[in-house]
Amino acid sequence: KDKVTTATVKQMKAEGKPITMLTAYDYSMAKIVDDAGIDMILVGDSLGNVVLGYDSSLPVTMDDMIHHAKAVCRGISRTMVVTDMPFLSYQVSKEDAVRNAGRIMKETESQAVKLEGGKEIAEAVRAIVNAGIPVCGHLGLTPQSINQLGGFKVQGKDIAAARKMIDDALAIEEAGAFCLVLECVPTPLAKLITEKLQIPTIGIGAGPYCDGQVLVIYDVLGLYPRFTPKFVKKYINLQEHVVDALQQYREEVVARNFPGPEHSFTMSDEVLKKLY
Ligand code: KIV
Ligand code: NA
Repeated sequence: KDKVTTATVKQMKAEGKPITMLTAYDYSMAKIVDDAGIDMILVGDSLGNVVLGYDSSLPVTMDDMIHHAKAVCRGISRTMVVTDMPFLSYQVSKEDAVRNAGRIMKETESQAVKLEGGKEIAEAVRAIVNAGIPVCGHLGLTPQSINQLGGFKVQGKDIAAARKMIDDALAIEEAGAFCLVLECVPTPLAKLITEKLQIPTIGIGAGPYCDGQVLVIYDVLGLYPRFTPKFVKKYINLQEHVVDALQQYREEVVARNFPGPEHSFTMSDEVLKKLY
C-alpha cells in the first residue's frame, strides 16, 4: 500500500473520507497501529504522561521526542508519522522553532511536526513550512498551556473565545499548516471551523464533524490507570486482561508449572553423564 502523505489527507478531506489517527510511542505499538490500517500516527508529547509518568507534558524534551519518534518510525510501512514539538522547542524564536523541527526531520523519519497554538505561533509555523517541513496545528485545549488555561476544560464556549479560535484556525491555515488538531472543542464550533478551513481538522473531544479523529492509544486500549477524559472511548480494557495474565504467570511460576518442557531445552544424556 502507498504511504499516507500530506497529499493523501488533503485528498481525503476533499472526498469526505474520515481520517484516522492514534498516538504511538514505540516500535511494537506503531507496527500494530500500522497493521490496523490507521492513516496517521502522532508521536504525542502525551508520552510525558502515559509513558514517562509526569503529571503534564511540560517536562518532555526534544531528546525524549526524538528517541520515541525513531522507534515509532521503525515500526511503520504505510502510516504517516507526525511528531509533537515539545514545550519550549518553538515558542522562544522562529529560528529555534526551525532548528528543532529540523532536528525531528533529520534524526527521525517523521513526515511532519505538530505545534500547539494560534496567531502567536503563526510566524514559527510559516518559518518551519518554508523550510520544507509539513506542520500540523493544535487548538482548543492545548496541554502545554495547561497552567494558563487553568485545568482540563472545554475551550471556545463563549463568544470571544469561539471567535478567537476561528481566527487562530484561519491564521494557522494561512501560515501553511496541512492539518489542524482540535481538542476539547464544542461540537458546533469544531463543525464551523471544519467548514471554514481548506485543510482537514482532526478532532479529539471535538465531536463527529471533524475531518478526522485522534485518540491517545493508552486511553483507547484501557492501559492508562489515571484520569480518563469524557471524550475517550475505551475499545478494550487491556489493563484487566494484562493483570489477569500476569497473575496467572505468577501463580504458575510459584507452583513450578512454568516453564514446561515445551519452553525448555534438552541436552544429550551422554554429555550430561560426564558432567556428574
Ligand atoms: O500529545 C498528544 O497525544 C496530543 C493529542 C492528544 C492530540 O497532542
Ligand atoms: Na501533544
